[in-house]
Amino acid sequence: MKSLLAFAFLALATAAPTGSQSEPQFKNAIGKNPGVIGLGGGIEGTSVDKTGKLYTVNSVGLYALDKENSTLWTNGTGGMSVVGLSSSRFTRTLGTLIGDPSGHKVLNVQDPKKPTLFLDASQMLQPNDMTISLDEKKIYFSGMNWTANVGEVWYYNVESKKLEKVPWTGDRANGIELSHDDAHLYVTSARHNTTTFQTLFSSVIRYDINKANGMPENPQTVLDYRKLRNDAGYFPKDAGTNMYANLSTDATAYGAAVKDRKNPQDNEMDFDPDGMRMDSKGTLFATLNAWKTVVMWDTTKASTTAKFMELETVYWPTNLELGGPEGKTVTVVGKCKGNANTCVDSFEHSTPGRAFKNLQGDGGNTGKDTTDDCS
Ligand SMILES: *[C@@H]1O[C@H](CO)[C@@H](O)[C@H](O)[C@H]1NC(C)=O
Ligand SMILES: *[C@@H]1O[C@H](CO)[C@@H](O)[C@H](O)[C@H]1NC(C)=O
Ligand SMILES: *[C@@H]1O[C@H](CO)[C@@H](O)[C@H](O)[C@H]1NC(C)=O
Ligand SMILES: *[C@@H]1O[C@H](CO)[C@@H](O)[C@H](O)[C@H]1NC(C)=O
Ligand SMILES: *[C@@H]1O[C@H](CO)[C@@H](O)[C@H](O)[C@H]1NC(C)=O
Repeated sequence: MKSLLAFAFLALATAAPTGSQSEPQFKNAIGKNPGVIGLGGGIEGTSVDKTGKLYTVNSVGLYALDKENSTLWTNGTGGMSVVGLSSSRFTRTLGTLIGDPSGHKVLNVQDPKKPTLFLDASQMLQPNDMTISLDEKKIYFSGMNWTANVGEVWYYNVESKKLEKVPWTGDRANGIELSHDDAHLYVTSARHNTTTFQTLFSSVIRYDINKANGMPENPQTVLDYRKLRNDAGYFPKDAGTNMYANLSTDATAYGAAVKDRKNPQDNEMDFDPDGMRMDSKGTLFATLNAWKTVVMWDTTKASTTAKFMELETVYWPTNLELGGPEGKTVTVVGKCKGNANTCVDSFEHSTPGRAFKNLQGDGGNTGKDTTDDCS
């Protein structure tokens, strides 16, 4: 009996890696993305330009990933200052947008010497991240107050310049992304225990976009991370920390206190959903900060089919974007093991990113496949 069982386990153990070898795997991508070096703990807000070149922000600037010390814009240049950046987006018609959550504004740094104020967001809690409609006439922002466990979503109509608060049913809102066809808006929601700082519930909420006026409506929880994790029995091998230990009281102690998880199951849900990006056919990629993991979900199917993908070097993934010459390289930035330095992992996906594809064309206004007729 004993040996039979052992044999069965051996068979399973041999079979599993063979099957999983064909699955895409994230690998260390520092060689192609040395621009992350030295950016520090505030690295996030990745974006892509028309050529597939990738960018990221830290609190003080916007940087290209393909070269070390490749700064596009840095705090103070052109007389414009920020409190700390967290997002960036390249556009065809609106310039290069970077979001300053604590400064409550969005800047356009397309001409880095002459940055302009794109949006006064003083009504907002932040903005944390943003997503832009294919015609670049609608922008949606997430935001939160971490301490208070609350979040919000805003809709900015670029033409009328009207900024509207969207009815929000979730807790802290962080990752935000429109679907490939602009029919839906996906937003992460999370709340934590204010004593232990552990995440209690985290999810993805989906809205329908009202075609007539662009307003997100009918919010539904479409993915429950705890359930997905339990159903899959997934724990990253070498990740997991009490991510928010002492964060609210002492940021330095927090950094020092972070240590590798001993018994993952004892540390329920010790991750925080962060940035999300979609490909041009509806597959959503979502980072799980502190958990060395990206969730890949083809949103044309049930969320129960979503898969966990363990990262190789990014232990604290904050955001991601699809870039490269064909826009298919899923590139994830964040902090490395031990909460130190900056790391970057990538894998080759089968489909170009939503943002990359839209930068090639005319925003789908003609309904043509812009990937094929890009010049
Ligand atoms: C980047 O800047 C840092 C700090 O100024 C410097 O130490 C490093 O050598 C630079 N790297 C390159 C490749 O220029
Ligand atoms: C940016 O510069 C301003 C003005 O010097 C300063 O007050 C602010 O703290 C700087 N922001 C960051 C993130 O360093
Ligand atoms: C965030 O919430 C906390 C706790 O409710 C509050 O003390 C603080 O003023 C809020 N911060 C902002 C920027 O609203
Ligand atoms: C938060 O954690 C504390 C300490 O473990 C516990 O007593 C409390 O019930 C928790 N609160 C919630 C809402 O889970
Ligand atoms: C958090 O701070 C308290 C009080 O300073 C300390 O007792 C505790 O060990 C700290 N927790 C961690 C995980 O370092």
